[in-house]
Amino acid sequence: MRTVRHLHLKKSLHLCYNNQDAIKLQNKPYGGSDMKKIIIVDSSPRKGGNCDVITDKLCESIHDAEVEVFRLRETTVNPCHGCNACKGKAKASCVQKDDFGALIPFIDSCDALVLVSPVYFGQLNGPAKTFIDRTYCFFDPSKPAGNNASARGKKGAIIMSCGAGPAEVYTKVAEGMVKCFGNFGVDDSRVFVGGGVNTPGSFKDHADYMKAVGDIAEWLSE
Ligand SMILES: Cc1cc2nc3c(=O)[nH]c(=O)nc-3n(C[C@H](O)[C@H](O)[C@H](O)COP(=O)(O)O)c2cc1C
Repeated sequence: MRTVRHLHLKKSLHLCYNNQDAIKLQNKPYGGSDMKKIIIVDSSPRKGGNCDVITDKLCESIHDAEVEVFRLRETTVNPCHGCNACKGKAKASCVQKDDFGALIPFIDSCDALVLVSPVYFGQLNGPAKTFIDRTYCFFDPSKPAGNNASARGKKGAIIMSCGAGPAEVYTKVAEGMVKCFGNFGVDDSRVFVGGGVNTPGSFKDHADYMKAVGDIAEWLSE
């Protein structure tokens, strides 16, 4: 069994940030079941593109979990200000009042987070990098563990699609970036990069890529 909820935070901002609903969201970000909580962050600006194929495949293949889909193109996640106001706090928090703030309790209490991104100039794309920068609010050298994550043992993954390649080089990039997820409690990670997919949706023409994404979904569900 699984439930999939698409978080269109921009549309529901009035829900997230006005009193009762904000409190509800902060205190109980998920539906309250005992199932695993998995967040998928899709950073592609291209609707119906390859990252959407990957996200749909994950949603289809993850089981026994509550899945929250956060599409960065539908939200406002501003760059980190580097103000360090998040340091020395009891819980991870950010002074910026954008959609990332509403996502912090989800990230803190999830069991797994998957970031799905296209490769842009050899890296994650800008929105994906901005998303990772904002998780700096979990990094806190003043804490014994060096971070503010209220739970550890999470799983994390980065899945990327790229037009040309070399996919092996971008795999190394993904392996480096997924280490940053340690700040919010990720101790076990996987990455996958599918190369040669430029046409929107062409990722699904590669049975081996779809299987690799399905395998990550299975691992996340365990
Ligand atoms: C600005 C930009 C930069 C890109 N840079 C690369 C690159 O460095 N290497 C590569 O193989 N593909 C590159 N691509 C191609 C995309 O990674 C590829 O088309 C990907 O599948 C797009 O995912 P989407 O359909 O979800 O948008 C780039 C595309 C754009 C728009």
